[in-house]
Amino acid sequence: MRSSSALVVVLAVTSLLAACGKSETPAPSADGAPTTASDDAAPADTGAAADAAAQATLASLPAPYNAADWANGKKQFARCRSCHTLGEGQADMTGPNLHGFLNRPMASKPGYNYSDALKEGEHHPWDATHLDAWIENPRAAHPGTKMAFAGLKDAEDRRDLIAYLMTETGYKPG
Ligand code: HEC
Repeated sequence: MRSSSALVVVLAVTSLLAACGKSETPAPSADGAPTTASDDAAPADTGAAADAAAQATLASLPAPYNAADWANGKKQFARCRSCHTLGEGQADMTGPNLHGFLNRPMASKPGYNYSDALKEGEHHPWDATHLDAWIENPRAAHPGTKMAFAGLKDAEDRRDLIAYLMTETGYKPG
């Protein structure tokens, strides 16, 4: 019996290690079946099925966003994640929750305390053009903003990130 309980421990440790490593390469489960995301520690990331659904909506986006690399956009969002949530009803963090921000006037999320720079700025609706300039260099787009982000210089990374934001914030084209 000793050896079988040792085996259980080994299996448990192995599956823990596999869980830790799964963002790198998905580890197959012991019986060879594909792993699922059901043990994912991050509830915001609802897993592969949700990613596939979001990618399917890419085609409905306006050009050039319909040709974006959505997976790269998701990766680029790592730059924003520490300050912004995207899901409906999620909390403001350092920056406002971004659900539904596209097509809404700048600095209009209820309950979020924007800087004077944004409050007093031109309250254009957020569209792809304004968003692209903002992400490229927030301080140039709106001098005095309190968004502490240096800017994303690569145009393709910005395209991919904007497409990702469109699919994740409830944006409706048109
Ligand atoms: C260090 C924290 C931080 C990071 C990183 C950050 N933001 Fe922000 N963001 C803010 C803050 C703070 C504001 C409010 C700015 C103000 O009031 O001047 C803001 C505002 C915004 C707004 C305007 C929202 C509105 O309601 O008008 C958008 C859009 C935005 N951020 C997108 C992004 C994206 C996309 C990224 C990643 C490329 C990003 N932010 C990275 C903190 C951050």
